[in-house]
Amino acid sequence: MTPPAPPELAARAAELRESLERASHEYYVLDAPTRSDAEYDRLFHELKRLEEAHPELRTADSPTQRVGAEPASKLEKTEHLAPMLSLDNAFSPEELEAWETRNARIADEVRGAGYVVEPKIDGLAIALTYQDGAFVKGATRGNGTIGEDVTRNLRTIRQIPLRLHADGPPPPPLMEVRGEVYMSLPGFEKMNQGRAAEGLATFANPRNAAAGALRQLDPAITATRPLRFFAYAVETGRGEPPFASQWDLLQALKAWGFPVNELARTCPSLAEVLEFVTGFERTRSTLGYEVDGVVVKVNPLPLHAELGVVGGREPRWATAYKYAPDLVVTTLRSIEVNVGRTGALNPYAVLEPVEVGGVVVKLATLHNEEDIRRKDIRAGEKVLVKRAGEVIPQVVGPMLEEGQERGPLFTLPDHCPACGTPVEKPEGEAMVYCPNSACPARIYWGIVHFASRGAMDIRGLGERTIDQLLRPRPAAESGEGDAPAADAAPSVSTAAAASGVPAEEVGDTVPGDADTTPARNALVRDVGDLYSLSLGDLLRLDGFKDRSAQNLLDGITASKQQGLARALFGLGVRHVGEVAAQTLARHFGSIDRLMAATTEEIETVRGIGHVMAEALHAWLAEPRNRETVEKLRAAGVKLTEEQGAPSEGPFSGLTFVITGTHPTMSRPELTDFIERRGGRVTGGVTGKTNYLVAGEDAGSKLAKAREFGVKELTEVELVALAEAGGESADDTDDGPGSPPDTPQLGLL
Ligand code: IVH
Repeated sequence: MTPPAPPELAARAAELRESLERASHEYYVLDAPTRSDAEYDRLFHELKRLEEAHPELRTADSPTQRVGAEPASKLEKTEHLAPMLSLDNAFSPEELEAWETRNARIADEVRGAGYVVEPKIDGLAIALTYQDGAFVKGATRGNGTIGEDVTRNLRTIRQIPLRLHADGPPPPPLMEVRGEVYMSLPGFEKMNQGRAAEGLATFANPRNAAAGALRQLDPAITATRPLRFFAYAVETGRGEPPFASQWDLLQALKAWGFPVNELARTCPSLAEVLEFVTGFERTRSTLGYEVDGVVVKVNPLPLHAELGVVGGREPRWATAYKYAPDLVVTTLRSIEVNVGRTGALNPYAVLEPVEVGGVVVKLATLHNEEDIRRKDIRAGEKVLVKRAGEVIPQVVGPMLEEGQERGPLFTLPDHCPACGTPVEKPEGEAMVYCPNSACPARIYWGIVHFASRGAMDIRGLGERTIDQLLRPRPAAESGEGDAPAADAAPSVSTAAAASGVPAEEVGDTVPGDADTTPARNALVRDVGDLYSLSLGDLLRLDGFKDRSAQNLLDGITASKQQGLARALFGLGVRHVGEVAAQTLARHFGSIDRLMAATTEEIETVRGIGHVMAEALHAWLAEPRNRETVEKLRAAGVKLTEEQGAPSEGPFSGLTFVITGTHPTMSRPELTDFIERRGGRVTGGVTGKTNYLVAGEDAGSKLAKAREFGVKELTEVELVALAEAGGESADDTDDGPGSPPDTPQLGLL
């Protein structure tokens, strides 16, 4: 028998297992590798050798015990405390009255008991488990009994409290708070625009987008999606929750820190309910999120038990009052295509103007070629248009007459409609692109993006101004006598027309002109030129006076200080979103270092995948783009960023050590959680460590932490600390010997 392995070797094996598992997870699940293949192999072989020498170190979960890591993990199943029910519908006042009559036969007190009315949010039902006030698990509805565990994703929704606020009644020790996760309409539209620009498929509606975001395997992706939440129910699994009424329950939810829809009302009788639903039909289109009806609930909870549940699925005490959908028939005049800043070709429908639910609809989004084919809609034919979410019009499908001859199927053009360059379809991508970086449509939208809020935030630089800046200047003015204005097209009018901006707003140039450069003598040909605009230049534009021109110049000057992260995001490299730009800027610190990096070097940055690294490297190598960067540099635009973890955040100045296993977050996730908040994570406990995040089976690090008097935190406490805003390093650095307490938790 071989002698047992010395503790140092056992510790090393555990460390290797952890590093390797972390690397595999990053590579296969998160698509964000941080180690090179060679490095992985080296660690893998070290572990293998160790296990060969000391077989007792070989654990069942060792990375050596399987061939490669799981290519993708899945969402685990989890059972709800009690079934998540669905609702019966009522489509008219008569049906609501019939509902009350049926209920009164079972419990005649129903008539005088009063109701609560709540907007029926069109999102996804979820159940959040709170144990002793802490958020421990979150799940989708699933089949009503068993849902999917999406805890880590739900944690990214800021509106969901990770610990119940102390105000309000004492919560049951174990309960599920139920409610709806949804996406706001502006958030949805912004996200879809961003996706289209980055060449990703767009979502058909906010509900699908929310569902997609919630079921991500990587919570970091969920975190970038604009998800929101409304709470409306409590379930303990042991009969009705401890409230007298649904209304009291909503108040308790609010006091515990949940968002509760502020439009919910009590109605003493069905007459008021009917009044509410009539009035609400108009209100609902102004809410900024999709509402597909009103949920009417019997107010006193004791009556819920008495009324019971039909077929184990639908409670009698609640019903959904649904409005007729806003549907109309109109003619699909044509299917046009706009070109986004990354060159993605996005089709959209031009409709015979028609009123749907109180607004006149002329255009509707079509997602991609595939979507158009699936719906089988064709230009020149009658189509059914629905105002889903009561805001975004959608073409549902064709409205054909018997025996009607069909028009031709839609196909995306094989040349860019704005510049005529042959389009490309990258392998494995849903979108088709114009590859010409000088395409006027791409430049137009590129500048719009560069000036936008999340990027350089140039105040006063709107789409109309950008359009003018990109137009050819009259020959005399530009001093280029050899370039008569007449053939300097396509101006940005082309870009804008090809981009879905209504023609009457931007001129009537026909898209598809085959010139491949923006107006040769325009004031601005790329974002770099914005910084050499003069007051005189601006004063020559329509609608500019001394003051507005000076304001715009000031806005442009101020934007020079935004820093590398925003500038990089603003440059609009395909796949490089706001978060990635920030990560890259912090990692490399300057545009020069980024430009000097190889694809492999870029790829080693945590959170940056191969596709993004390649796209970025290619972008930076293109002479036209280098020229733009040089213009920015010459103008004094700040192209550096402070390196390292964000210095700002509740954990800035704090050092953490992580040990043991934790209820919901893996080690990389905990590290990420801390670093995103400005904290630093180190491997070993020293006198400088502020906190030990100790999970189950915390080993030697715990002993060492106690020796140094380092404060211990559980995962829940860590999250709570972050929520409470952390604590400054000075306050916590009370040196060796102080007791391992967590006084800051008293704040909660
Ligand atoms: S009560 C029996 N309240 O509608 C309790 N549901 O068709 C059922 N919903 O699965 C839930 N807003 O996803 C309730 N204020 C609200 C709601 C709401 C949206 C959804 C929920 C549920 C579905 C039932």
